[in-house]
Amino acid sequence: MFSQSIVVLSLLAAPLVCAQTVYMAGDSTMARNGGGSGSDGWGQYLGQYLTIPVVNNAVAGRSSRSYTEEGRFTTIINTVKNGDYVVIEFGHNDGTANPDNGRQVAVGDGYDTTATVTAANGTKILVHTFPYYIQNAVTSLKAKGAIPIVSSQTPSNDWSGGAIVAGPRFVGYAQTAASRTGVTYVNHYGYVANSFNKLGQSTTSTFFPVDHTHFTPAGANVVAQSFVRGLLCGTDSLKSKVNSAGQAVPNGCI
Ligand SMILES: *[C@@H]1O[C@H](CO)[C@@H](O)[C@H](O)[C@H]1NC(C)=O
Repeated sequence: MFSQSIVVLSLLAAPLVCAQTVYMAGDSTMARNGGGSGSDGWGQYLGQYLTIPVVNNAVAGRSSRSYTEEGRFTTIINTVKNGDYVVIEFGHNDGTANPDNGRQVAVGDGYDTTATVTAANGTKILVHTFPYYIQNAVTSLKAKGAIPIVSSQTPSNDWSGGAIVAGPRFVGYAQTAASRTGVTYVNHYGYVANSFNKLGQSTTSTFFPVDHTHFTPAGANVVAQSFVRGLLCGTDSLKSKVNSAGQAVPNGCI
């Protein structure tokens, strides 16, 4: 009886121990229906290319700072198990604002750089840089045994000379934060720009139904495929969880 219970418990426990999950932290470009009006975020489309489940914790309107200050990284840090992946992608809402909008970060990439901003009611608020918020989240996730992946923000539907324009400063900051913490960086901006450039401006423009930032479901799927291509072209262990559909995503390495 005793040994039978042990066997049953072992059988029950084994799959639970092995199962890995991909958690996603980001803004409206990743979140379900993130831009409203029939738009969708790319986090909804990643799971079909992986052999392990995706939990999309992206929330529209968030920045590296507000996702931190609202305790959303803390929730993921408290949830992850050893070996879980966490894809972190911000930048669209992190730009400067006056009065403070609760989302802006200090300008620059120094971990210790701060700025004092002024709320609409006159209150002074200390804010940190994009790398500060991202590096803190990555460090805490690694301490839990999770595998963070820092991904750069998606491009908007902005063109120059027949190509998607160069990325804003948060693209470089994402790479910096990943490099400083020794985790994988996916140049998602670059991989999506490559996909959009190959499709051309008129086809790409059909992916932006609301504004120049948020995607149709078809556009969000291209953005998810571009992330998978970035994974396949890199060395992160998550590439071993890309399924056959993921192996078949278009375009090459950049
Ligand atoms: C002023 O605004 C800030 C930021 O929204 C808020 O945290 C603070 O509580 C407000 N202070 C007062 C006195 O309303």
